[in-house]
Parts: sequence; structure tokens; C-alpha cells
Amino acid sequence: MTTTQNLDDSAKAILASNDKGKYTVPTHGLYPYQWNWDSAFAAYGFAQYDVGRAWLELETLFSGQWDDGMVPHILFHTIDAGYFPGPDVWGGVGPIPSSGISQPPIAATMARFVYEKNPAIGADRLAPLFEKFVAWHQWFIDWRLDNGAVCITHPWEAGRDNAPDWDGAMEVLDPVGVGEYTRRDTSHVDDDMRPTKHDYDRYLWLVQQGSRLKWDQSALLEQNPFRVADPTMTFTLLRASRDLLALGKLLGKDVKSVEKHIAILEAGVQTLWNEKLGSFDSRDVRSGRWANSISNASFLCWYGGIDKPEMLERLEQIMSKVQYGVPSFNPQDAKFDSKRYWRGPVWAIMNMLIAVGMEEMGVAQGQQIRESTQRLITENGFAEYFDPIDGSPAGGDSFTWTAAVWLGWVSPSIRN
Ligand code: SER
Repeated sequence: MTTTQNLDDSAKAILASNDKGKYTVPTHGLYPYQWNWDSAFAAYGFAQYDVGRAWLELETLFSGQWDDGMVPHILFHTIDAGYFPGPDVWGGVGPIPSSGISQPPIAATMARFVYEKNPAIGADRLAPLFEKFVAWHQWFIDWRLDNGAVCITHPWEAGRDNAPDWDGAMEVLDPVGVGEYTRRDTSHVDDDMRPTKHDYDRYLWLVQQGSRLKWDQSALLEQNPFRVADPTMTFTLLRASRDLLALGKLLGKDVKSVEKHIAILEAGVQTLWNEKLGSFDSRDVRSGRWANSISNASFLCWYGGIDKPEMLERLEQIMSKVQYGVPSFNPQDAKFDSKRYWRGPVWAIMNMLIAVGMEEMGVAQGQQIRESTQRLITENGFAEYFDPIDGSPAGGDSFTWTAAVWLGWVSPSIRN
């Protein structure tokens, strides 16, 4: 029988097994390096029983910060031939081999959760990181804004690789000259759970372009045809800025630039409201077109501190079509695919971000999402993501962030 104690123990065992000493891999095989937002969740998971190890995770992440402030989405600490594309393809220009793009900036928010677990230790560990967080956030503000909304320059940057949000912007890319390559992801996981070759050709073309331009942001701004204003980035940066403001005040730091970021982003999120769709949406900056996507990122508004009653109506419509919410894409849309990564499956991490925001803002449905996540993991284990129709596990297994979300937010033992 699966008991709460067993599941708590399994979650800790997953973190221990994915722990490489100073950083944690998302799962062995499929993702053998340190990923940015996965690592922030790992810190949150460790903080439930080992605050020192949680801070070490964040410190290692920021050891890869570039001179311009960017914190890469992958740090290639120890080369593993089982992953593609590796550091040779990316050509990152930071202090350690890395990718050339970033990922949703949730680290400052997770640092606040870690800090609150033990403020005495937290103040010492946080103080040297504070300016690094500010510099990273400033990089988004300097290079990635469109009318105050944060843009991605590669689908991997949003963390939602093959979300239908990018279909329009991806279609116009011509992946000419991308050459022959061997994918490694589909040797670890069923290919119907992963992005298509059509998508991968374009992912690689964008990496090759960035590498050729040495990840010079002003050149990319001019030349990269892919630029999409994204609710994931915008809501997470807004939220992280609010948390950084609170932390900065606690530490007695200068928080003027953080206050400016919040004002810019609060205006920016309004430009992601698609009135016709009645939802927050992604906006292709190059074509000016809406994606017309109601995704799980649309529901990050509460996490960003933005209450929007219409989003509650959208949520109820979407949840009524699946057994386990929140699906990553609208099940009523023809593009919905219950197993294919970000085109339908449920992600425990997104559920946590959405529902934490709702619970903080007194929106009762947050609790339903938490309970749904509890059922999902109890019945199906610590998968990377899950089919929202039948709950079946998908993608990688023994997954760090699913274990972390269990330990910090889902496990019944938290509230006993
Ligand atoms: N998520 C991408 C992958 O699958 C990269 O971040 O490899």
C-alpha cells in the first residue's frame, strides 16, 4: 500500500539519487545536467529538510551567470554524451560551459521560500546572491521587453518547449542548413511524448544562429526572427521581482531598480490580455499575431499577483474536460495532445505555481488544484508530466521537480 510516509521517503530518495553534490539533475538519462528552473525547484525540495543543501543548489546555479547578467538554462558541468545538443553546439560564453538562453526566472521566488525555512541561515546565504538576482532580472528588462511583456527568443527559454503558443512563430522559420543530427531525447522517452522533428529542426536552427552571433543580445534583437511575448516569463519575472523586493528590504539592500521592474512588468502583463480569447495569451512580436492559446501559463496570473475573474471561468471550463488538471493546453482545441509534452499534459510544477498564487490571493480553486496534484502523484508516481485524461505518467521518471513539489506543497504530511 502507498502511504504518505512511503511517498515522502520516495520523494527524498529521488532528490538524493539525482543529487550530483552541488547541483541536481532533473532526471538521469534524459536530462543529465543542471537546468535552471528545475534547479530552483530542487532547492525548494531540499529546503524541506536540508536548508544548507538548498542554498548550495542556488549558489551553483549562479556560478554559471554570464557577465551580462544572464543565467543560462543549462549548465554543462560534466559532459554527458547522452544529451543533445551539448556545449559544442551551444557555444555559450559564460564562466562555465552552458546554453545561450535563459529560463523562467523562478529562482528568487524559490530563494524566498528557502529563506523562510530558516531566516538565520538564509540571511547569510542570500546576501551574496541578492545582486546576482537583480542583475539577472535587469538582463530581462534590458533585452527582452516588448511593451513591458517579457519575450522569449527560443521555445526552450519559456520552458514550455513545444507549446502551441509558438506554432505561428515557428512556422515562418526556414531551418535551412541545420544539417544532420541525432536526437538523444527519443532514445530515453517515447517519441509521441516529445516534440516533432519539424520542431527540433527549428530549435537547432535557432541555437546555431545564436551561437554564430556569440549570443550578442543586440544582434539577436535585430536578426532573430523568433520573438514571442510570453505569459510564463512575464508572470514569473513579475512574481520573482515582488519576492526580491521583500528579500531586499529584509537585507537592507537598495531596492529601487527592483521597484522599477515591478512597475514595468505590471503594465506589461496587461499587453498579454487577448480580449477576443478572454485569456492571457502569447503574442508574436514579429508578426503582431496572438497565439490564441489558453495554456497553463495563462493561469499564472495569480502567481504574478494579478486577479482576473475571467481566468477563473476559463479554468473551470478547462478543468471540466479532464480528470486531472491543469492541462498545459486547452482540451477543447484541436491541437490538444494529451501525451505530447507541453501540448496537453499536466505538470505538477505549473500546478504548484498556479495554485500557490491562487491560495495567496484567496481564490478557493487553488485547493482543488493541489488535491488533484496529490491524486495524480499518489496514483502515478513522480513522473515528469502526466496525461490529464487518465493520469498516466509521461516523459522522464523519478523526476526531481515532481518530488520537490510533493515534499513542499502536496504531501498530506505538510499539513498534519
Ligand atoms: N527541454 C529541452 C530538452 O528537452 C531543453 O531545455 O532537452
